[in-house]
Amino acid sequence: MPLVGGLIDWVAEQMARPSLDFLLANKSENNLGQEGYVLSVRTNRIVIAAQTTTGLFYGYQTLLQLLPPEIFSTNKVSGVKWEIPCVEITDSPRFPWRGLMLDVSRHFFTKSEVEKLLDVMALHKLNTFHWHLTDDHGWRIEIKKYPKLTSVGAWRDGVGFGLATNSTTAYDPDGRYGGFYTQDDIREVVAYAAARHITIVPEIEMPGHALAALAAYPEFGTGSGPFTVPLKGGVNRGIYSPANEQTFQFLDDVLTEVAQLFPGKYIHIGGDEVPKEPWKNDATCQALMKREGFKNEEELQSWFIRRIEKIVSAKGKTILGWSEILQGGLAQNATVMDWIGGGREAASQGHDVVMSPKTHCYLDFYQSRNRTAEPRAIGGFLPLQTVYAFEPIPAKLAPEFHQHILGAQGNIWTEYISNLKQVEYMAFPRLAALAEVTWSPKEVRQYDDFLRRLKLHEQRLEQLGVSYRKSTLGDGADATPVKPKAKPKTKSISSQ
Ligand code: ACM
Repeated sequence: MPLVGGLIDWVAEQMARPSLDFLLANKSENNLGQEGYVLSVRTNRIVIAAQTTTGLFYGYQTLLQLLPPEIFSTNKVSGVKWEIPCVEITDSPRFPWRGLMLDVSRHFFTKSEVEKLLDVMALHKLNTFHWHLTDDHGWRIEIKKYPKLTSVGAWRDGVGFGLATNSTTAYDPDGRYGGFYTQDDIREVVAYAAARHITIVPEIEMPGHALAALAAYPEFGTGSGPFTVPLKGGVNRGIYSPANEQTFQFLDDVLTEVAQLFPGKYIHIGGDEVPKEPWKNDATCQALMKREGFKNEEELQSWFIRRIEKIVSAKGKTILGWSEILQGGLAQNATVMDWIGGGREAASQGHDVVMSPKTHCYLDFYQSRNRTAEPRAIGGFLPLQTVYAFEPIPAKLAPEFHQHILGAQGNIWTEYISNLKQVEYMAFPRLAALAEVTWSPKEVRQYDDFLRRLKLHEQRLEQLGVSYRKSTLGDGADATPVKPKAKPKTKSISSQ
């Protein structure tokens, strides 16, 4: 955390009074694991012990939470009694993957905005930031070998999605909407995250959600061009062509640069919502299918993903893809991110899985039934209570496969979210609920107790300047129910 106002006072007091010790224990003590800690606060001494610096960091986060919320003030505070209750805490997380995804393609967020989000994630002991860097509506990462990805693909004619022009400041001097991160920016954010014990998982979408890339390099696409970076929608018009060998060379080159920038294990390759029409209507794709003996485009998609998996594996990384990568058969070493199913099936086949179902983890959905009282959102209804009630282990998953459920994450898609304040409004307090779901044992979680503690937590968010949604606003349970959402287009997530 940045050294904030309250903290300065508090550290000064510590130097005058009890001692604060950080102990890095070498051998396994109390099964603390990679992220656990012991925190002991006594009248004359505070000790945080852990096996790793990550554990020490989390013990320190807990210590800060035991102090008055003003400890998080960004201004110097006076008149607060810096008291801490005496406690003995032994704590470690239930799941190793506790995440948040931010879509920076639909709307662009600056490096410092992303860093502010990372600060608040760390406070919630979240350890994985999934950075959705490319999509139809903008390509946001500099790739040295293909400069048009950002000179063309990072910009569109306006903010789009019917939003007010002044809802954002992400314009270039010519008034084009967008932006991108240079490779130096990326390195800075990766280091910033690492200092907060957060791993960044970059997502490079393929074979669909690729219009921004195809606007820059149409030769790698199939579909009804000319391709442009759309102001909204447009996803069905173009996808990568698997029939052009150069497409794989292009993606290999892109992934080489991505792999060098991100030290983590995973590269997310998307794989969701691939419209099949462009491949159906393209003679070269059909010829490829005939040559390979594929019965349908799902098998072509699976072949595409398997080739990408080999490319990514050769760089020492593991692919992660959305539910749809199960279609036509799952690539051997793939990890699955379940948003519309497939998690149980993948885990039962021995694949690792991150749970992020629409039913519990889509933080871009409305928080209240009373939509008119809320800022415009994409749809859906995901109240705080539903997030808190989430159980990441899929029902009916046999116990021997539970270990394959790495954890869960909240997703913030940003079609209707064009500034950080609104990201925060959608994220908090629902992300606090999800942080508890992924950290705490299921047995100890109680919604009433969470709400009671949330009152104090809101004061912390207040001090940090986070534009959270006040829990007193409720979920609009008395309002007219929203119309049920149409079923997702992708009906079945199955390898059959
Ligand atoms: C997704 O929401 N299309 C993964």
